[in-house]
Amino acid sequence: MNILPQTAKLLALVATVLLVGCERPPTDTVQHGFRGTGMVQVYNPRIVEQNTDLHAAPAALPASAPDGTRADKVYKNVKVLGSLSVGEFTRLMVSMSSWIAPNEGCTYCHNPANFADDSKYTKVVARRMIEMTQHINADWQPHVAQTGVTCYTCHRGQPVPAQVWFKEPAQQNGADFIGDAAGQNKAALSVALASLPSDPFTPFLLENKDIRVNGDTALPSGNRHSIKQAEWTYGLMTHMSTALGVNCTYCHNTQSFSNWSGNPPQRVKAWHGIRMARDLNLDYMEPLQSTFPSNRLGPTGDTAKVNCATCHQGAYKPLNGAPMVKDFPELTRPTASTSVASK
Ligand code: HEC
Ligand code: HEC
Ligand code: HEC
Ligand code: HEC
Repeated sequence: MNILPQTAKLLALVATVLLVGCERPPTDTVQHGFRGTGMVQVYNPRIVEQNTDLHAAPAALPASAPDGTRADKVYKNVKVLGSLSVGEFTRLMVSMSSWIAPNEGCTYCHNPANFADDSKYTKVVARRMIEMTQHINADWQPHVAQTGVTCYTCHRGQPVPAQVWFKEPAQQNGADFIGDAAGQNKAALSVALASLPSDPFTPFLLENKDIRVNGDTALPSGNRHSIKQAEWTYGLMTHMSTALGVNCTYCHNTQSFSNWSGNPPQRVKAWHGIRMARDLNLDYMEPLQSTFPSNRLGPTGDTAKVNCATCHQGAYKPLNGAPMVKDFPELTRPTASTSVASK
């Protein structure tokens, strides 16, 4: 029997298996910094094209007249949207339904027998989310600029945004045969399958641990930064690159990661983005813990939280920079004279 054809088939199979993990060339490169600095972005046009739908913003409903009876004169239980006209209020309710729960509609948040009733947890969460969205657009201008965000930026037509994170359960203490994994070596998706710490979010996007790892002295004295700490920083940086679909050189001149001069303005934006994500997680997501039912909580009982991917979902600007919030000015400022619903 001639085994050659079989061997050839086997080799072809092995080659296919090995190559499906690769991106098919050609890729495009775009210069992103001064010449000679190697600051180049690498794109795969086919992947960009495949994701066009993901980054397309839905059309806004035609604006409603701001005059007319105020919502708080007509409805019984409005704590944040009271100053809108009834027309604007209804338009926002219809838009929110399409952004959060297009299949269920109003009843995803409302008891259909009594719209003023707050018995569904989704309505209580939604009220706080309206305040969170206003806070992002009003107070985080250094990050979101005039582009801003709406519910759709994170939710994309789903009650639970596609990209959220939870704290990881504490690792088994006590050494197994590979020793203490120190939160890493898991090939986790959160760090693009690298062997970096798989939860770089708790220390940096919830707690305020130091992201800087380059010491300013040559010797360890006075230099508390270790390789282990550098790996946490690299975990976060890997997430940031993946979340935005960019290379490290989108923000850094890699001649020196710690140096800020000669870096593109995107790095400053990212600096604010880190602080913004931390603020949202601390002031909005974590305090909602007792409002969410247990099936929405993570393995350690915490709420789903926000990272760069929650809004960006692989794009350098969420929805490729579509300025959706300009059609919803009520989401750019606190609308009620009284307020702070459920803090
Ligand atoms: C994602 C959750 C959500 C969806 C979906 C939703 N609403 Fe609401 N709705 C709210 C929240 C939150 C409030 C309270 C706003 C406030 O406190 O200012 C509210 C308040 C109301 C009120 C005022 C009730 C009262 O008397 O206090 C009406 C009316 C209303 N919504 C109608 C609708 C309609 C109609 C739809 C479907 C087209 C809808 N809503 C979809 C969250 C939602
Ligand atoms: C910065 C991202 C972000 C924005 C903007 C945002 N949300 Fe959320 N939302 C979240 C996260 C994260 C959760 C937690 C997911 C979960 O339910 O476990 C959530 C949960 C919810 C839930 C609960 C869904 C469920 O089934 O548990 C509702 C309702 C909701 N949001 C409504 C809104 C509304 C209405 C807006 C706009 C006014 C909005 N959200 C804007 C991130 C966001
Ligand atoms: C979206 C912008 C952005 C991208 C992409 C990015 N970084 Fe960063 N990087 C920052 C910012 C902002 C800081 C400073 C964070 C702070 O101090 O809060 C930083 C800090 C660092 C530091 C610490 C520097 C110091 O002062 O000690 C290192 C190391 C680093 N980045 C490496 C990387 C690597 C490697 C990549 C690619 C995998 C990367 N970064 C991708 C924005 C970015
Ligand atoms: C609440 C949603 C939201 C979150 C969370 C978020 N961003 Fe952004 N980001 C935006 C919006 C909106 C813009 C567009 C601002 C503009 O048009 O200038 C933006 C722009 C940026 C830009 C500028 C891109 C460019 O080419 O000008 C960078 C860099 C960036 N974000 C990094 C981050 C990083 C890093 C994180 C996580 C630490 C993060 N973002 C988290 C909403 C968000």
